[in-house]
Amino acid sequence: MILIISLSHGREFLFADGNHYLFNIKQYLIGNWGIIMLDFDVIIVGGGLAGCRAALEIARIDPNLQVAVVAKTHPIRSHSVAAQGGMAASLKNVDDADSWEAHAFDTVKGSDYLADQDAVAILTQEAADVVIDLEHMGVLFSRLDDGRIAQRAFGGHTHNRTCYAADKTGHAILHELVSNLRRYGVQIYDEWYVMRLIIEEGEAKGLVMYHIEDGQIKVIRAKAVMFATGGYGRVYNTTSNDFACTGDGLAMTAMAGLPLQDMEFVQFHPTGLYPVGVLISEAVRGEGAYLINSEGDRFMANYAPSRMELAPRDITSRAITTEIRAGRGINSDGTAGGPFVYLDLRHMGEEKIMSRVPFCWEEAHRLVGVDAVRQPMPVRPTIHYCMGGIPVNTDGQVRSGKDGLVTGFFAAGESACVSVHGANRLGSNSLLECVVYGRRTGAAIAEYVQNRKLPTIDEQNYIQQAQQTIQNLLEQKGTYRINEVRQAFQDCMTEYCGVFRTEDVLQSGFEKLQEIQKKYSQIYLDDTGKCWNTEIIEALELQSVMVVGQMIMASAVNRRESRGAHCREDYPQRDDANFLQHTMAYYSPSGIDIQYRPVTITMFEPKERKY
Ligand code: FUM
Repeated sequence: MILIISLSHGREFLFADGNHYLFNIKQYLIGNWGIIMLDFDVIIVGGGLAGCRAALEIARIDPNLQVAVVAKTHPIRSHSVAAQGGMAASLKNVDDADSWEAHAFDTVKGSDYLADQDAVAILTQEAADVVIDLEHMGVLFSRLDDGRIAQRAFGGHTHNRTCYAADKTGHAILHELVSNLRRYGVQIYDEWYVMRLIIEEGEAKGLVMYHIEDGQIKVIRAKAVMFATGGYGRVYNTTSNDFACTGDGLAMTAMAGLPLQDMEFVQFHPTGLYPVGVLISEAVRGEGAYLINSEGDRFMANYAPSRMELAPRDITSRAITTEIRAGRGINSDGTAGGPFVYLDLRHMGEEKIMSRVPFCWEEAHRLVGVDAVRQPMPVRPTIHYCMGGIPVNTDGQVRSGKDGLVTGFFAAGESACVSVHGANRLGSNSLLECVVYGRRTGAAIAEYVQNRKLPTIDEQNYIQQAQQTIQNLLEQKGTYRINEVRQAFQDCMTEYCGVFRTEDVLQSGFEKLQEIQKKYSQIYLDDTGKCWNTEIIEALELQSVMVVGQMIMASAVNRRESRGAHCREDYPQRDDANFLQHTMAYYSPSGIDIQYRPVTITMFEPKERKY
């Protein structure tokens, strides 16, 4: 093949077939001649919805910018692909009385007034536009009979505003976004694990990353770094989250000395399939399913009479847990006193079940042998979502503390805390956040990098440190297998930092976590090879899990009130006088420092939250 390199542009290859291909020459040379540092204008970590939407926005605004997405899985396998129920937007296709203001109020009330209301206004005002934009990209939303996008009911929303693609909405959106990235020539490094965020003198300069396939380590230098690394469900032992959700971006940010915000607010999704914990979408209740206890009662009447099964998730999860604690849970043989309640779809009928929530039917059938057309599903709360995260402003710029910003560092999606969800997220607001704030952050980055120079980095130093970390892991003569330590940590988080919390339990949980953490230096790896060594990745992920778990527990101990998903049995009331504030937690190996920063209130004064 004859190859002509166009030097004037520096990025195009003209092949003998006459076609131009957008191609990063530097990557080509590096890939083939072993250069250790890569240069990009923008590097985005995470190939889920927020990261892909940001990359697409940057490429749309300025196609000359060199943008790379780095992800530890293929982008199509990011956890966003598993999102089921939908994406909220006041399109008014079903409910004429809806408005962005109503959506904003529901979101703020759902957040137990901890959400920043300027950020919520942006989220809800831009919602309709981002849905239409996705539709124009080719996303196959479910339709009404007249061809408009269908919208369903969801918990805590007072109007039917959730747009969906059956119960596979994340799948439908992510596939279109990734296809579009390919069209724009965004470079994707899939199956590279990011080991370190490089921050020097308050400026994000790049990353150190490890190639899972062959053990190569490279430094990427960039004018802007964005984290869209998702959540941390795997910090707990039962979760709806993918195995990859180990909080790596959060841990790297914390280990770089930056704060994490509101980490005590962990969302339990009410309907995890028992015993596996995978998600049975809220869409199932949105389409009419009932929650039933061992006495055959729709018990939500006692907890949220006006919303019943469509109360917000914090309230519904507490209700289920209370029923189970009171002996009105159900056992596998149908007797009372067991660990789950029933989600009953039978009255919905086969046609509706199979057309609106086919994936949930399939999951229950495949994983626990339940045919939901004829039998109720066993469910109980499962860890689902992280309301806290890397604090950012409404342009996705990462906060360095109560006031400042980190130069060149951006974040969006579940790993960020902007904060639109406050103490409790409403279902179908997270896909929305990924797309609205992914797009906004992408636009902010495209502007930020104009006329900026690449930073200077001593890449050899970073490479050597990373090589040493890997070498130490491989040579460590420990006594514990990774799985043993991880399981102990996850069990401790689940037992001591659950739906209901108290000071004593949290304190002793925190001490136990610290004991378990000491075992990290005594783990050993069986696989000492370089090729596809997943044990190395598990060891690195375990470190993330441990940092994030301790941040959650320390933040929870210090918030002595009950608000949203953080329910303190020893402080059962919300305490606005002292805690209408965001937690800012700072990690160091010697301890975690907790500070607070004010909440932005622009539209809705805090009130008692009743449903
Ligand atoms: O239940 C669900 O389908 C989950 C939706 C969400 O977390 O937004």
